[in-house]
This record gives sequence, structure tokens and C-alpha cells, in this order.
Amino acid sequence: MKVTVVGAGAVGASCAEYIAIKNFASEVVILDIKEGYAEGKAMDLMQCASLNGFDTKITGSTNDYSKTANSDICVITSGIPRKPGMTREELIGINAGIVKMVSTSLVEHSPNTILIVVSNPMDTMTYLAHKVTGLPKHRIIGMGGALDSARFKYRLAEALEAPISDVDGMVIGGHSDKGMVPLISHATRNSIKVSEFISSERLEQVAADTKVGGATLTGLLGTSAWYAPGAAVSGLVQAIACDQKKIFPCSTLLDGEYGLSDLCIGVPVILGRNGIEKIVNVPLSDAEKAHMIESAEGVKKTNGLLEL
Ligand code: LAC
Repeated sequence: MKVTVVGAGAVGASCAEYIAIKNFASEVVILDIKEGYAEGKAMDLMQCASLNGFDTKITGSTNDYSKTANSDICVITSGIPRKPGMTREELIGINAGIVKMVSTSLVEHSPNTILIVVSNPMDTMTYLAHKVTGLPKHRIIGMGGALDSARFKYRLAEALEAPISDVDGMVIGGHSDKGMVPLISHATRNSIKVSEFISSERLEQVAADTKVGGATLTGLLGTSAWYAPGAAVSGLVQAIACDQKKIFPCSTLLDGEYGLSDLCIGVPVILGRNGIEKIVNVPLSDAEKAHMIESAEGVKKTNGLLEL
């Protein structure tokens, strides 16, 4: 199993690190445009191998796409991250050009690859990757919902004063401060609806804190987060590599599912060796349905800024 991670910044390096630590991939290639940077990150990570007990071989390259040839999975983290006060949508001008170049170069060298798009605005960048590579839709996956759901579970556990392992929940919709749809109606503590434990006002607060999860960290760190994004990507990569058939909310091209089409947006999918094996339809409350429609309108508005 060969995995390429494009972008050796904090998110890319964190992806590579978590993938290696889980020890399921034979090879991880990191690519970056900054001279020597990916090579340096790869060497530093390889010097963790004996300490952390992994055998994954990590190599770095300065923008040489031939090194990525025949990758089973390619992760795109390239582009600029947001600064405090910025929305993910504001990054489109610079990141669209980068994602277009990176995704076409990757597919040229790995025509059978599965692409995971992390660069922001993620849903629009996933849609762009579809348009420019022409890969079948089950092989292009946007990473946002897995991260947003992890942040939702963190906030739920905090509100419930429960261990995170007791809590389950999912966030669908666009990966943006306004677009996320935390599925409160489906959230549980050990199979019991969370509304049995805390008030609807507290749950609304959990949802609001979840939606600004990335912005909160950007305010604290001065740039966007990397540990949870890296861990979320590694979860998707592992589900595909190990054919786990796990459900994650991912951004995928919809064709009538959830009443939506011609956009990529977060919905629950089953991930396995073929990438997106199936889109899962979950019943939504009226409020969640309305929120999903509003979220799709926001994503389409951002897609409208693309020069296709
Ligand atoms: C975040 C970025 C990765 O939400 O979109 O932290």
C-alpha cells in the first residue's frame, strides 16, 4: 500500500505521522514545493520509526511527481491555511490553482489512485478535483466530516461529562462554519439519545461550538489546526487501505442523494478498498433537512467562484 501526501506543512506531516504510526502502509511519500522541506520531514519521521515501532517507509521529495507513481491513495493538503478571522471560503483564489495543478499531476502518475482532498474550501476543492481529473466519483473523497464529527464528540463528551468513548455523533453538510450540520437527533451516549441527559439549549451550544471548531483553534494557534485533521485523514486512509467498510461523513459528489446534485458535500459514506463503496441515507429531522439545504446553497455559491 503506497500513500502519497502532498504538502509537508503541519497537516500533511501530521497525516504522514499518524498513517505511519498505525503501521498499515508499506510506503508514504511526502511532496512539497519548498526545497528540501518534505525530505526533512520524512527523515525526522523515519527517525521515529524505531521509537514508535512502525515499519512504514517514509520518503520526501521536492515536487517530483514521478516519486508518487502508482500510489494507491493520494492526500492533497497543499495550499494556504486560514489565519485568525478568515473563513475557509476566502482561500479559494490561491488554493484552487494549487489543487488543480496537484490533482492533475497526481492522477497523471497514479491513474488508479483514490484522492483525498483536505485543502480548503474543502467541498469546493473536492468538486474542482472531480472536474479537472475526471476520476470516477467513488475515487474522490473530501475530508471534513470526519474531523468535524471528532470535534462534535469532543464537545458532546464535555457537555455530558462523559468519556469520549461513550459518545457517538456525526456532522454532515459543508465543511464551513455555517455549513456544518451536527446531527443532534442521532447523537448518543452508549446508544441512549443525548437529549435524555442534557437540555436542548445545551445541545444547541454543543452544535454551535462544533461548527466554529476550526475557527476557535485558528484563533488560539494563529493558523489552522493539524493534529485532529491529520488523525481524521489517517482514519479515512486506513479504512480504505484495510477495506474496513467503516462509515464516515465525507464530501462526495451527489447525484440526487439527500435531494442534492452537482456538488460535493458531506454525507455518511461507507469506505472500503474501492473508496466510497456506498452513500448512506440517514433520516434527518426537519431542522436538519432545512440546514442541509442551506449548507448546499453555501457550497454551490463557493463553487460558482471557480473558473472551470
Ligand atoms: C480545520 C481545517 C483543516 O477545520 O479545515 O481545522
